[in-house]
Amino acid sequence: MNYVLGIESSCDETAAAVVSDFREVLSNIVYSQIEEHKPYGGVVPEIAARSHLEKIDIVVKNTLEKANLQLSDISAIAAACGPGLIGGLIVGATFAKTLSLATNIPFIAINHIEAHALSVRITENVDFPYLLMLVSGGHCQICIVHDIDKFEVIGKTIDDSVGESFDKVSKILGFGYPGGPAIEKIYFEANPDNFKLPHPICIKGNCDFSFSGLKTAVLTASEKCYSIQEKKDLAASFQKTVTEILSFKMKQALSLCLSKGIKITSAVISGGVAANVIIRTALDSICKEFDIPFFAPPIKFCTDNGAMIAWAGIEKFRKNKFNDLNFKPRPRWALGES
Ligand code: KG4
Ligand code: ZN
Repeated sequence: MNYVLGIESSCDETAAAVVSDFREVLSNIVYSQIEEHKPYGGVVPEIAARSHLEKIDIVVKNTLEKANLQLSDISAIAAACGPGLIGGLIVGATFAKTLSLATNIPFIAINHIEAHALSVRITENVDFPYLLMLVSGGHCQICIVHDIDKFEVIGKTIDDSVGESFDKVSKILGFGYPGGPAIEKIYFEANPDNFKLPHPICIKGNCDFSFSGLKTAVLTASEKCYSIQEKKDLAASFQKTVTEILSFKMKQALSLCLSKGIKITSAVISGGVAANVIIRTALDSICKEFDIPFFAPPIKFCTDNGAMIAWAGIEKFRKNKFNDLNFKPRPRWALGES
């Protein structure tokens, strides 16, 4: 049995996990910095970097203890080395490389978006190629995942990501950070039909996204909201509109695969926004219309976590893809770029 230790520190979670090549998640510890960033309504890079530095030791130590393993039981140490906030990436990558140097355990540099892209395979038998809608705070794209390092992007955002729009809309309406979970909760206490919001670039044949016009429409509508309930209705209308946009784009992507004869095994949503049950349910029914199996990672593996980094490490370990200790963290790192 091989065990990989995964370390995640690209944004506002200090996380670590141990995963086996038999898909067993032995431990998965996430220290969320949300409370530290809340007063500022978003992630402050300097606070994030300092907090990673303070917590990484204990998070990794507790992760190994919970897995009931010693470092000597670990076959590889994987760390998210980009894309993301450079301060946090340096902390995680340096910690992993130092452990690797001291123990002679091989080091694997993980692309954080690729880890999101592969995360569904921790728990589901999803074979390549599969259609992936990757929606998080930093990323928003649709691609065909041909292999662990082969991604064909067929659509991406031309402005904001979906997660960013949830966060901005929540900030505008005063519902706090992070916006996604807050708005999802409000949806069930409000009237999502109270406001008619735009569906930017929902044009036949197009798999790209745009969210900045939708966000501006929410801002404009919010100026005429005089009660908390009206604000809640606006948040719910935003959630409904985003669900409709993602459903439309999933349909476009599935139709494109059909028309081009691309034989996908399934359709998948991953990334932080994939934790949204309203969106998951809507996409599931779209895929049923196309008779394509639909999968989403368990909610705890949607938002940033160490298990997805460890799992991406397992996928690379199986192919003997290790990295040199000279590997430098990359604040920008495209999907599939070696
Ligand atoms: O994947 P993630 O943890 O970090 C990035 O790689 O960006 O995604 C964070 C984003 C945030 O924008 C957050 O508001 C959003 O995911 N998010 C959600 C939900 N949970 C987190 N969006 C919608 N519904 C949710 N339940
Ligand atoms: Zn992420």
